Formats: sequence, structure tokens, C-alpha cells
Amino acid sequence: MVDMKDNVVIITGAAMGLGLATAKELAAKGASLVLVDYNEEALNAQVKSLKEQYPSIEILSIVADVSNEEAVKNYVNKTIDKFGKIDGFYNNAGIEGKQASITDYDLDVFKKVIDINLMGVYYGLRYVIPQMQKQNYGRIVNVASVGGIRGVLNQTPYVASKHAVAGMTKNAALEYGQYGILTNAIAPGAILTPMVAEAFKQVNPEDPAAAEKEYASNNPTRRLGQPEDVAKVVAFLISKDNGYVSGQVIAIDGGESNMYGNA
Ligand SMILES: NC(=O)c1ccc[n+]([C@@H]2O[C@H](COP(=O)([O-])OP(=O)(O)OC[C@H]3O[C@@H](n4cnc5c(N)ncnc54)[C@H](O)[C@@H]3O)[C@@H](O)[C@H]2O)c1
Repeated sequence: MVDMKDNVVIITGAAMGLGLATAKELAAKGASLVLVDYNEEALNAQVKSLKEQYPSIEILSIVADVSNEEAVKNYVNKTIDKFGKIDGFYNNAGIEGKQASITDYDLDVFKKVIDINLMGVYYGLRYVIPQMQKQNYGRIVNVASVGGIRGVLNQTPYVASKHAVAGMTKNAALEYGQYGILTNAIAPGAILTPMVAEAFKQVNPEDPAAAEKEYASNNPTRRLGQPEDVAKVVAFLISKDNGYVSGQVIAIDGGESNMYGNA
């Protein structure tokens, strides 16, 4: 197991799903964590249980909405005040929005998805990178989606925002590689988190389990991903073990995004 004891890592959207799974994976490796989420209750509950399970690691928890620029500045400043550095940044918080065609999409929901998924990721980069430049070291993992490399029916703002995350990732890698900052994005397929469970409810309100089963049957592995499948990839990309991978959008989807027709 890679030792991350001298690493300080910020995780946004840390109260559940992919953020929480990575928090657990990094806690097990001894990293100091800054956990950011706008769901205060869920965040407090998870911080409490992480502290119980890993009493020797340091955890700073911050309630913040990543679509609020001042709140982002604040979580970055608080991290620097407490730890003096930021080694890793898991820029993960995001929402899916609703399922609707382009012409029917609710404009307010559209703007909210863009505000959180695109602007939230951008604010994070804008305020974390200067600290990493000072250190001449940093590892950033932005969370895109298979919807950041392919179209997904009825999810236009999500797909647009995740393509934007993939684009920002490539630019960050180009602009800041010279400062020892490696930036990558992950593109998860369907990973069984609360967000995806909610999507199956929208697809088939009467029988979400049937929607889930049908979705999994189209994957080459015939299963959905688990949050831990993603956390292990992130843990590598965000650690010193990653020496030369940058500017990549890495699918974590059981191979599904390479499929054309039926497998
Ligand atoms: N689960 C999947 O299959 C999947 C696939 C592709 C991409 N993703 C992406 O992974 C990321 C995490 O998704 P998840 O499945 O874990 O979702 P989730 O809904 O299970 O968890 C997301 C967490 O982020 C927090 N959050 C949302 N908006 C926030 C905001 N504005 N400010 C602060 N915190 C906020 C939520 O409170 C929640 O704790 C998202 O960016 C999502 O788009 C997920």
C-alpha cells in the first residue's frame, strides 16, 4: 500500500458516493484530508465515522457549495491556514440534473448543472493551482464522466458540463505541467452511488431495480461499478506514484464506452 502520510488532499462532494469512497481509500493510506460538501448533516456523520475508524489521521471538514466562488476561496484558504500546502485535489462534487430532451429541458435546472459541474470545477482549479505552483508540486483529479466523452440521451447539461471538465483538464495539464502539477480527469460509467440510484428511479419510477438490471446487462462486465473501483484509480492518480500521467480522461466503466452495437 502506498503511504500518503505526508499528503494533504482536498476532496469536494465528500459526504457520499465517489467522494466518500476516495476519502476512505486515502484515509487508509494515512493522508490528511480536507472534506468539502454542501450537505452538512451527511458530511458531519461521515467525518465522525472516519475519525472513529482512522483516529490517527487529520481531517478538516468544511461546509461549502462549490458553485459559490467565495465558498471555494474559503475552503482553499482554510486548507492552507491549517496544513500550509495542498498535495492533491479531488475536484469531484457534481449533480446530474433531470432527464429531459434538449427542447424540453428546464432552464433553471440546466443553469444549476452548469454552475455546479462546470463553474464549481473551474473555481476549484482557479484557487487551488496557485498554491500548487508555489510548491512546484500538485496532483489534480477532476471528475468528468462517460458523458464527458460520449453523448447520453436526455442529459444535455450534464454531458455539456462533463465535456467541459474534460477540456479544462487538458488545458490545466498544458498550462501547469511545468510547475510539477499533473492534472487528469476520470470518466466513470454507471457506478452505484446515491446519484445513480436516483437516476434509475427517474428511468423507471415503478421498478428502479429493473432499470438497474437492464443497464448492467449492457456492460461487458455485466455489472455496475462500485465506488471502490473508482477510488483505487483516483488514489493512484492523486499520489506521488503518478509521475507522468497528465491531461488524460480515464474511463472507469468496465470497457463499455468502447462498445459499438451489442456485446
Ligand atoms: N456515480 C456515477 O456513476 C458517476 C458517473 C460519472 C460521473 N460521476 C460524477 O462523480 C461525481 C460524484 O458523483 P456521485 O455519484 O458520488 O454523486 P452523489 O450524489 O452520490 O454524491 C455527490 C456528493 O457531492 C455533494 N455535492 C453536490 N453538489 C455540491 C455542491 N454544489 N457543493 C458541494 N457539494 C456538492 C453532494 O452533497 C454529495 O455528497 C459527480 O461529479 C458525478 O457527476 C458519477
